[in-house]
Amino acid sequence: MEEIPKYEKANHYKSINITMKQKIAEKFRTLYQSEGDFFASAGRINLIGEHTDYNGGFVFPGAIDKGIIAEIKLNGTDKVHAFALDLDEYCEFGLNEEDAPSQSWARYIFGVCRETIKRGGKISGFNTVFAGDVPLGAGMSSSAALESTFAFALNYLFDLGIDKFELARIGQSTEHNYCGVNCGIMDQFASVFGKKGNLMRLDCRSMEFAYFPFNPEEHGYKLVLLNSCVKHELVGSPYNDRRASCERVAKVLGQEFLRGASMDQLEAIKDQISDEDYLRARYVIGEERRVLDVCDALEKGDYETVGARMYETHWGMSKDYEVSCEELDFLAEIAKDCGVTGSRIMGGGFGGCTINLVKKELYDAFITKAKAAFAEKYGHEPIVIPVVISDGARKLD
Ligand code: GLA
Repeated sequence: MEEIPKYEKANHYKSINITMKQKIAEKFRTLYQSEGDFFASAGRINLIGEHTDYNGGFVFPGAIDKGIIAEIKLNGTDKVHAFALDLDEYCEFGLNEEDAPSQSWARYIFGVCRETIKRGGKISGFNTVFAGDVPLGAGMSSSAALESTFAFALNYLFDLGIDKFELARIGQSTEHNYCGVNCGIMDQFASVFGKKGNLMRLDCRSMEFAYFPFNPEEHGYKLVLLNSCVKHELVGSPYNDRRASCERVAKVLGQEFLRGASMDQLEAIKDQISDEDYLRARYVIGEERRVLDVCDALEKGDYETVGARMYETHWGMSKDYEVSCEELDFLAEIAKDCGVTGSRIMGGGFGGCTINLVKKELYDAFITKAKAAFAEKYGHEPIVIPVVISDGARKLD
C-alpha cells in the first residue's frame, strides 16, 4: 500500500493524548468549523497464541499505549467526510454498498459503517479527522485500532446498544468483506476489550475470556518489541492460504476447527493431506498446548517457561507455518545469543516485530547488540518499542 511510509509520520507524535489530539482538533476546526467528540482505540501485542484464533484456539493479547484517535461529529447528511491526518488525505463517501471509497484507509471506516448498518444500526453521516501512532505493517494491528475506534464511536453517538463482542465482530467483518483479509477475532477483540495492566486469555471457540494482570517488571523482566521494519501486509497475502490449509485439515479430521486435535490424530491422517497442510496443522496443534502452558506458568510466576514456549512458537512459525522472514529469524537468534528469556515473531508474520521477554539486567546489552548486529547485516537498526499494556476502545474526555 503506497501510503504506508507517509502514515508512519504518526510515530513522531510523542504523546497520544496531548499532541496528537491537539493536531486533530486544529484540523477539525479548520475543515468543519466545529468541534466533535474524541474516541480512541489501541493496537495490540500478543504474548503467545498466533494463528490460533481462526482455529478456535486460545490467544493471549493485550492492548497497548499506541493507537488511533478520532474526532467525530454528526453532520446531519447521509455522507461521511473523513480526513486522515497522517496521510494528509480527505475522502467523502455515502453509506450505501455502492458508495465504497477507493482509498484503503477509508474502506476501513466505510466497512465499519456498513457492518453496523447490516446489524440493524441506524446511522447517518458524520465529519471526522483521525490520526494514529501504531506503526503500520508492524504486526501491531493498526487496522483493528482504526476499526474499533469507529465501531465504538458509532455505537456511542447513535446510541445503538451494540455489545462489545459485536463491536469486535464489526471490525473483523470489515476485514473480511471490505479489506480482503480473512482474519480471526484476536486483534479487534484486544482493541475493544483491552484493559490497562492486563493481558487477556480468550478462548476463540467459546469466546470466554479472562483478564490476567501482567506485570513482568515485578518479576524482574521487561517486554519489548523490535520492529524489523520489514513491512508485513496481510491483504492478498498468504495469510488467507494458511487459514485455508487449517480448514482443509480440520475437515479431514471431521472437526469444525483444528482446536482440540491431537498430534496422534494428525499423524493418522497424514497420507490424506498435503505435506504443506500437515506442517501448518502441526504448528497450530503445538501452539494450542503452548498457550495453555504459558497461562499455567504465568500463574506461578515462572517466566522461564513462558520464554521457552515463545522460542518454540517462533521456530514453529518459521519452519512449519512459514510466516517468518530472514530478518525476524535473525532477531530471534540474536535474542537467544544474548540470553533473552523469550523471543518470537508477533502477529500474523511476514515481517513486522519480534516480541521479547528479557531480564532487566540483560536489557541494555541486548538492545545494543540487536541494534548493532541488525544494522551491520541489513543496513538499518530495528526500532525498539517498549510495551505498555493499556486500555482499549473508549471515549476521551
Ligand atoms: C493477524 C490476524 C489475527 C491473527 C494473527 C495471528 O493479526 O488479524 O486474527 O490471526 O494475525 O495470530
